[in-house]
Amino acid sequence: MNIHPIVAGNWKMHKTRNEGVSFVSKIKNRVLDKVEARVIFCPPFTALFSIVEAIEGSSLSVGAQNVYFEAQGAFTGEISVEMLKPEGVEYVIIGHSERRRIFGESDSLINKKIHAVLGGGLIPIFCIGEKLEDRKANRTTDVLKIQIESGLEGLGAVDPTKIIVAYEPVWAIGASEAASVEQISEAHASVKSILAGMFRDDGNDVPLLYGGSVNEKNAAELIQTKGVDGFLAGGASLNEDSFCSIIEQVSNFYKR
Ligand code: PGA
Repeated sequence: MNIHPIVAGNWKMHKTRNEGVSFVSKIKNRVLDKVEARVIFCPPFTALFSIVEAIEGSSLSVGAQNVYFEAQGAFTGEISVEMLKPEGVEYVIIGHSERRRIFGESDSLINKKIHAVLGGGLIPIFCIGEKLEDRKANRTTDVLKIQIESGLEGLGAVDPTKIIVAYEPVWAIGASEAASVEQISEAHASVKSILAGMFRDDGNDVPLLYGGSVNEKNAAELIQTKGVDGFLAGGASLNEDSFCSIIEQVSNFYKR
């Protein structure tokens, strides 16, 4: 199966609602239907629903950056899948390294969230990645295996095309340089083989993104890397020219 390329922008805690709507409207006018890639904006909650309205009628999509696994109840500060779905949100980033590190999210919490997202008919963008100390200790594959097997526990029977995995080495996020082509292709090969063990041959149908300092200068090279089906961009997704250039480069590669 040919995987449709994906370019997702994780805005993190950036842009007000007005700034976000104006940004997305400009991109909508620039990329129109010319793009091969599935483009997903992941703004903060305050901008989420206005951005769904702003992209109406286009091929663009919207994802949340987080969700809680319960449907409703006494969970102050949280938002459920049931609240996102009717508003037109299609994706949710789960397990981002900042959620793991700063907010203490464990593999088992991440697993519950992924179950809730899939159960509610949304698509998780499931982030995994090793820390620098893991890489230095040659533990990259072990860490990825634990994160994938715990995060996706109990989901072997799910349609693999309904899950997106993003490999984001923690040391490459917001860094001066992305991981190298060799590092990415090696990690993606490991991830694909771990997924194949869980979903059998269908592991190949799970879109596998790379994230970590992707920008307009390295996108053309990185998209050619074996096993890379698109990008999850942070910093570069906040700038109109950079993000459009990444989308175009990914599209051009797939159009060839
Ligand atoms: P970055 O962030 O592109 O700014 O490195 C990527 C991410 O955290 O998803």
